[in-house]
Amino acid sequence: MVKVKTKFFCTECGYESPKWYGKCPGCGSWNSMVEETEKVVKTQGMSSGLFHTKEKPLPIINIESDKEPRIVTGIGELNRVLGGGVVPGSLVLVGGDPGIGKSTLLLQTSHEMAKEGLRVLYISGEESIRQTKLRAERLGALSPELYVLCESDMESIEASIDDLKPDFLVIDSIQTVYLPEVTSAPGSVSQVRECTARFMRIAKGQGIATVLVGHVTKEGAIAGPRLLEHMVDCVLYFEGERHHSYRLLRAVKNRFGSTNEIGIFEMNESGLTEVINPSELFLSERPLGVSGSTVVASMEGTRPMLVELQALIAATHFPSPRRMATGVDHHRMGLIIAVLEKRMGMFLQNQDAYVNLAGGVKLDEPAVDLAIAVSIASSFRDLPTKPDDVIFGEVGLTGEVRAVSRAEQRVREAAKLGFKRVILPEKSMKGWQSPSGIQLIGVNTVADALTVALD
Ligand SMILES: Nc1ncnc2c1ncn2[C@@H]1O[C@H](COP(=O)(O)OP(=O)(O)O)[C@@H](O)[C@H]1O
Ligand SMILES: [Mg+2]
Repeated sequence: MVKVKTKFFCTECGYESPKWYGKCPGCGSWNSMVEETEKVVKTQGMSSGLFHTKEKPLPIINIESDKEPRIVTGIGELNRVLGGGVVPGSLVLVGGDPGIGKSTLLLQTSHEMAKEGLRVLYISGEESIRQTKLRAERLGALSPELYVLCESDMESIEASIDDLKPDFLVIDSIQTVYLPEVTSAPGSVSQVRECTARFMRIAKGQGIATVLVGHVTKEGAIAGPRLLEHMVDCVLYFEGERHHSYRLLRAVKNRFGSTNEIGIFEMNESGLTEVINPSELFLSERPLGVSGSTVVASMEGTRPMLVELQALIAATHFPSPRRMATGVDHHRMGLIIAVLEKRMGMFLQNQDAYVNLAGGVKLDEPAVDLAIAVSIASSFRDLPTKPDDVIFGEVGLTGEVRAVSRAEQRVREAAKLGFKRVILPEKSMKGWQSPSGIQLIGVNTVADALTVALD
């Protein structure tokens, strides 16, 4: 007889308990426990680890290490985010809001893989075969080695995988897959967890590069337990503003590469196209010679990116002024306003302050500080900035400008796009050669930077 048990799971960390808690004893988050009934069925190796080899421990110097082979997909931006391509046998989770383009991205990737002669299996639990075909026609993703299956029963999926032996597998989405022996509904914590564990074993055991699509909750996390993120090798988020056509692919976890890189795509009728030069995109709508607008040179991983930064300072109608930051850290903005007030004598307490990075990008490195300071001062004093200036540098609490990394790449990107001057920390100017045709102005304080940028 099968015993039915009721259990409670934490959706954040996967903590399991026979009773409900308001605060999860595992991770301390509030109101994260959900109830689930589970038929207890003996499943081999489900929770006792993924690898069952009867091997002895080896000295690390005796282990053979070929560099992990990678399948280089036809999509350069995806390769970049994954650290050079898809690793066979890896399990990748792609999360994102509904309608952002996850299915589009993966169908296009599948097509590119199939074009290389790999066998690809695309399993959709959300759309019918016909819908998938229509989408593939629109994207031009028709190739004979691309197989499509509409299925959500884990056991049939496993059978098809054994049958077809694909090199690349896409599951769209993990929330639709279910194991019949687990009684809770598809998408619930235990279903998602058990199915992911199975896909993990398929991926590792048969060396199939596997991509799972995951839905995102209102809070922006991948639905199901956080545990899911711990189980897989890579977690990618596909993001973008609904009203803008471009999309960012960002790695938040990667066992085979860095998590600093982002991939940039543009969405149009015929699918996603790669954005090779993001700076041009982020500067395309920039107004020239107005107050409050500057261009900042930022690094995303190993790639420099120029982005327009805008500030608006306007008299407030509220007892306490508004401070709104989009795309940059709200706390950094507060700090920079405090520095401008205290060190530069600007009276901003009765002014609302809005800071916005154009195009919906997010930059969280301190090198954007100086551009925020110049933009705010420019708007406050209503002095226009120079359209040919690029600014970067970290601002300290005494109003000093501190060195930032990779100054050379930032300057080269500015030169490449035809900017004439770069205002940068003086301490970042040593040890490299400036490209010709661009003037470098080293500054040590915010005051110096304002003198140069707003004279
Ligand atoms: N027939 C179509 N023509 C043009 N755009 C479409 C068509 N069908 C879907 N789209 C657009 O493609 C985008 C991506 O959809 P999709 O890849 O299904 O997203 P997800 O899988 O993340 O939910 C959607 O924003 C949608 O507006
Ligand atoms: Mg989809």
